[in-house]
Amino acid sequence: MIKQGNLFPDLPSTDKPLRFRSPDRPIWTENKAKLIERYLYYFVMITKHGAYIDGFAGPQYPDKQDAWAAKLVIESKPPFLRKFWLCETSEEKLPALYSLASASFQKGRSIKVLPGDFNKNLESILASGAITEKMATFCLLDQHTFECEWKSLQALAVHKKDNKIELFYFLATGWLDRAIAATTRSQHIVKAWWGGDDWKKLLGMRSFDRAQLFASRFRLELGYKHAHAWPIYDRESGARRVMYHMIHASDHDEAPKLMSRAYRKANEPKEELADVQRELFGSESFHKR
Ligand SMILES: C[S@@+](CC[C@H](N)C(=O)[O-])C[C@H]1O[C@@H](n2cnc3c(N)ncnc32)[C@H](O)[C@@H]1O
Repeated sequence: MIKQGNLFPDLPSTDKPLRFRSPDRPIWTENKAKLIERYLYYFVMITKHGAYIDGFAGPQYPDKQDAWAAKLVIESKPPFLRKFWLCETSEEKLPALYSLASASFQKGRSIKVLPGDFNKNLESILASGAITEKMATFCLLDQHTFECEWKSLQALAVHKKDNKIELFYFLATGWLDRAIAATTRSQHIVKAWWGGDDWKKLLGMRSFDRAQLFASRFRLELGYKHAHAWPIYDRESGARRVMYHMIHASDHDEAPKLMSRAYRKANEPKEELADVQRELFGSESFHKR
């Protein structure tokens, strides 16, 4: 058991919306990969193992290797995560994924690159038998806007009964109205992304409210115990603006606390493993784990 205490005194004890009106340490879009990596760094200290699915894995900024989530997660030490699936449609981006997979190969690890649509490839990942009930599994869904279909989230959510596959889902709250307006002739895409005909309710909503609506759908429709929306910022004409919300959904009671810590610390140098172990778990209990 993780030691309870007031390690996270600033955190709510329930899943009420977490508000970040003026966070003093914002996560910028180019740092979102660091947030995911730092969270997993903490989490695998609990699980000591795990699997990672990256649905939209190609590098967003090919010239910024330290902003590429798949690379940061695969190269993170200690290398507790053992199974990886990296999905990507763009032929231009696939070579970078193949290079990453071969450079990171080590005994006991499996890194599979799956070219093509994540929504189609997910079925074979889940049917492979590799993600068992006991396998801690994390899935990054860093879509641009409407690429991740709701049915994929449903498939991920029902695959494991207890401690469901944990989700990091990027929601483009910053330009959703513009993006929906641009799809007048292809509204079936918005429908598949939203998972129904009632997507028009999103139009004109405030960014924060949209994010809360999604977080509540992750709890009520997908059945996650915890789901929170974390803002990801960009600088526009010198001003700070929320571009995305990252919806983090997990059944694990420690997960929101670990994400809160990752959000605060992602831009700082990584803490020494021993320090984090002591602070999060207490040194003795950790070693007995
Ligand atoms: C926002 S980027 C991902 C950024 C990446 N996570 C990073 O850390 O740099 C989205 C990626 O998804 C890819 N993509 C778009 N539609 C896809 C689909 N249906 N299935 C898989 N990949 C897709 C794009 O080519 C692009 O490389």
